[in-house]
Amino acid sequence: MIKTLVLFLVLHLLPTSRSSAPPSVNSPECPSLSQLLKGSADINNVFSHLGSSSAFKSAWQRHPLHLKAVTPNPQALFNLTTLYDLAGTHVSGHITQKSPDGSWKPSSLNPEQLSGQPLKKSTIDAALTSSPPSTISFNTAGSLFPTIGDFSLSSLAGLEYPVNVNVYITPPTSSSSSSAPGQIVPLHTDRQDVLIFQTLGTKTWTLHPPPPLKRDPSTNAITTHPCTRGKAGDVISPSELSPLSPPYTCVLNPGDVLYVPLGWAHCTSTDCKASMWGKKNADPSVHATLGIDTMVWALTKAALRWGIYSYAGLGYNIDMGKVSDKDYWESMEALPFGFLETETIVDDISDLMKRMQPDREDLPSRNIVEDVVEIFREHKKKIVEVQKRMYTDVDPKTEEGMRKAVQGARDLDMCMAELGLKVKGSAFYEMYREKVMAADKQLALLDKMTT
Ligand SMILES: *[C@@H]1O[C@H](CO)[C@@H](O)[C@H](O)[C@H]1NC(C)=O
Repeated sequence: MIKTLVLFLVLHLLPTSRSSAPPSVNSPECPSLSQLLKGSADINNVFSHLGSSSAFKSAWQRHPLHLKAVTPNPQALFNLTTLYDLAGTHVSGHITQKSPDGSWKPSSLNPEQLSGQPLKKSTIDAALTSSPPSTISFNTAGSLFPTIGDFSLSSLAGLEYPVNVNVYITPPTSSSSSSAPGQIVPLHTDRQDVLIFQTLGTKTWTLHPPPPLKRDPSTNAITTHPCTRGKAGDVISPSELSPLSPPYTCVLNPGDVLYVPLGWAHCTSTDCKASMWGKKNADPSVHATLGIDTMVWALTKAALRWGIYSYAGLGYNIDMGKVSDKDYWESMEALPFGFLETETIVDDISDLMKRMQPDREDLPSRNIVEDVVEIFREHKKKIVEVQKRMYTDVDPKTEEGMRKAVQGARDLDMCMAELGLKVKGSAFYEMYREKVMAADKQLALLDKMTT
């Protein structure tokens, strides 16, 4: 029982998942790519096509893309059987329900886990039929479910960036729900580019280009992280949304894929088909969100800028009040090390660094910039290698499988600590070294109890 408790605590330490030029809106559907993908025998084939598709590359961090019916058997990825298969395991999921005060509160799917009880089938049933409806979700699902593990591996191979998959299951809402029926998630932004794979039921998505950065009126400093808007008490008000760019709305059906660029504000609803309203036995809406985690793993131009100054022994602090929205979003762009490979990164980052701090004269030499670009390129490769191990032979039913998930999270933090060392970023190194040491202690504890 102590062992289960430790596993539970450790699993809660797993990372929960973390634009660029003004978007040219109104080209969000992509028939040619849909056509190309259609008939891919397997949902996992999608990534090799996406990674080599010029349509996807030109949409990347610019505008959304809706690919219709590209996967013939989307349920193979995740379905209700996959969910019920969790009964008897110690996998920790969440449920999110709207509380009477209107806020959204996540809690553990299995509250009895703390006392060592495995997840019961009846708990899953209760979550699926609760009123008001709640969303069940699993973070880092690639290290919990074998099908999602394989899917994550395919995406690593096709896109060559670190990824993280979360799964969301939302019961159908009835037409009798209150003022905002079926509105499951309020308008917010995320810190990754995401690909949404609808596997069951339907869901309506409403997307808006990134709102202007929220700044202090006197100093112009950025007051709320542009990639966590609409969270932790922050609200995106309608006046922030550009009247020039009307929202893009689409309904995802099973087999559809939607690309949502980093920083785009979005909300979802399950009340998408009038014909489904109030129908009994309607399918829940199930989707897997594949996040491309360039921001989480220090693979953005902003991270590279930090690395260059740190490596050169120069100050990297910056007054964001003097940085334009456009340059800010460029700094959030992914380093071109995966399917986005370009030859011009050294010039691009040097230009961006000059634009962000035009008064600064101590730009490091080209040799230094090239060295640090290589350090980040190696760092990306290591992160992807760790994830490949993490997503191979996943098994939520064994202790070994769960241990591996923890080991993977630990190894990712180790890559970050090493990056800190290489660019001489001591604070960064210390922060991740502490995470690694905490994970090592827990792994040692687990091993002691297993032997
Ligand atoms: C549903 O999921 C299970 C387990 O993940 C899988 O074995 C089964 O083939 C899936 N069903 C369909 C229709 O794909």
